[in-house]
Amino acid sequence: MNDKQIVASEAAKIVKDGMVVGLGTGSTANYFIEALANRKKEEGLQITTVASSTISAIKAQSMNLFVQSINQFSKIDLYVDGADEITPKLTLLKGRGQDLVMEKLLASAADQFIVVADKSKLVSRIGEKFVVPIEVLPSAWQIVKLELEKTGATGDIRLNLNKDNIAITASGNYVLDMTFPPNLSDQSLNSVLNCIPGIIEHGIFYDLTSYVLLSDNGIIEKMYPI
Ligand code: 5RP
Repeated sequence: MNDKQIVASEAAKIVKDGMVVGLGTGSTANYFIEALANRKKEEGLQITTVASSTISAIKAQSMNLFVQSINQFSKIDLYVDGADEITPKLTLLKGRGQDLVMEKLLASAADQFIVVADKSKLVSRIGEKFVVPIEVLPSAWQIVKLELEKTGATGDIRLNLNKDNIAITASGNYVLDMTFPPNLSDQSLNSVLNCIPGIIEHGIFYDLTSYVLLSDNGIIEKMYPI
């Protein structure tokens, strides 16, 4: 098993009978879906899942997990997902996969949000390795871009894989991929992005993580915010 599989299996052990479990998106989240489906098959675990993306819903259904729509719930028990960056305070950068809105909704609606990752995801600050994805109302993208540039940010609208059109998110919006000055703290950046009209959601997950299960060459560490 690789490090992502190891933490995903560990997270699946936390799931209890009767729980409503949010499924993340990405390769580590996929391993979690597989481990959860295995537990259901082997132990007859009765669980309901809610997916953060269509691709995760398809995978879960193909593995015989029961997938419900989020509109059936006002809260969920557990959400397990990966991340692109994790700071010492467990602020996350997420959203490469363009499913930001549902991912943050599930993270905030969950009693427990557990992040599963390998050591490569640890950073000292958000934006160290990746641009920050900001999902915007299509008609507002130029207004939002100018507002972001006033903070010293640089970047542009995300294009599709062929680079011949604008990328559209699962919620039908555009994405601005921005780099911010390194002196802006994660907390300030989160506050700024929360307040700009036209921003639907952004990839900074601040103060949402319960704990991180991190695997480094097979050794699992449980990390709490410092
Ligand atoms: C998707 C995400 C993923 O969780 C993140 O990109 C990590 O992916 P992986 O587990 O494949 O490394 O935020 O929006």
